[in-house]
Amino acid sequence: MTGKTGLDLEQHQKEALERIAAAPDKGALEQLRVQVLGRKSALSQELSRVGALPPEERREAGKQANAAKRAIESAFADRARALRDAGAGNLGVAEAIDLTFPGRPPRRGHPHPVSLVMRELEEIFRGLGYDIARGPEVELDYYAFEALNIPLGHPARDAFDTFFVVPPDSDGTVDPDVETRVLLRPHTSPMQVRYMESHKPPIKVVIPGKTYRRDNDATHVPVFHQLEGLLVDEGVTVADLRGTLEYFARAMFGDDRRIRLRPDHFPFTEPSLEVHVSCFQCDGKGCSLCRHSGWIEILGSGMVHPNVLRFGGVDPERYTGFAFGIGIERIAMLKYGVDDLRSMLDPDLRLVRQF
Ligand code: DAH
Repeated sequence: MTGKTGLDLEQHQKEALERIAAAPDKGALEQLRVQVLGRKSALSQELSRVGALPPEERREAGKQANAAKRAIESAFADRARALRDAGAGNLGVAEAIDLTFPGRPPRRGHPHPVSLVMRELEEIFRGLGYDIARGPEVELDYYAFEALNIPLGHPARDAFDTFFVVPPDSDGTVDPDVETRVLLRPHTSPMQVRYMESHKPPIKVVIPGKTYRRDNDATHVPVFHQLEGLLVDEGVTVADLRGTLEYFARAMFGDDRRIRLRPDHFPFTEPSLEVHVSCFQCDGKGCSLCRHSGWIEILGSGMVHPNVLRFGGVDPERYTGFAFGIGIERIAMLKYGVDDLRSMLDPDLRLVRQF
């Protein structure tokens, strides 16, 4: 039937119902809803015109238009439900659970290589009867340098690229009062004197901890770790130092390792000795790891300087001792075959996981 305004309602309804039934998905259905029922749709316009008809026609025309609208609305609801049901039916296929499929194992955490090496070192020295002590990372200049026989103005200070907690004045001068000057310890050696102050010989201690230097490249980072060793007793000699460090090198790098000592210089030891281990990759034949020398430097050491014993309140006429400092990152790099330290310390877990 043709409405007073020219729309063939029956035809319009028939076409609409056909298109609704054929809507392939939810999106198409929504688009169609706007076309067929929206404010600008022919049906809406037809309905709005009903009010302008003479009263005797208005009733019948309104009834018909509303009936058409309701039929179309319910067709939309039916189609929406049908599409939803079909989707849910497919879900059963698409999302079916294969109970035989292997699960996704949760990733397990593990200690960082630096922590692993630190623990291993502590175990090795604990096995030799050493105590383990810790000391302050924010340290006095006095313990970091002065009491280690490195007075103000000593050239060895330059090697330590120190972070001062109170920085030098703009003209470069630093507070001359070493008793109160505060810094981030650039090595663990300050604990030698602190420990002697509070312990009487015989002393056997290792001090693991964080250390700080203004340094940043492939083999240096501003925060790193060391393990300091100190042994003080009557009659301690270089032979004791050698035996201890050879034991350590074998425990860490393998039973077949040998060590050699080379002269070095640290103000707090006399003599000072650089310790090399026979290359564990080529067994001393020469390879890229040992730069074809057969030997790898692993730590600094020496006999404790009499001045340092004195600063610690230990009588150098009666006691002697040896000390050593091990760079943990260096040992970890050697052990895990890493040549850029920064890759091992990168917070990106994908990198760290390789080790
Ligand atoms: N403190 C030194 C450094 O950081 C390492 C060191 C060398 C420590 C010789 C020692 C030692 O105890 O005897 O470079």
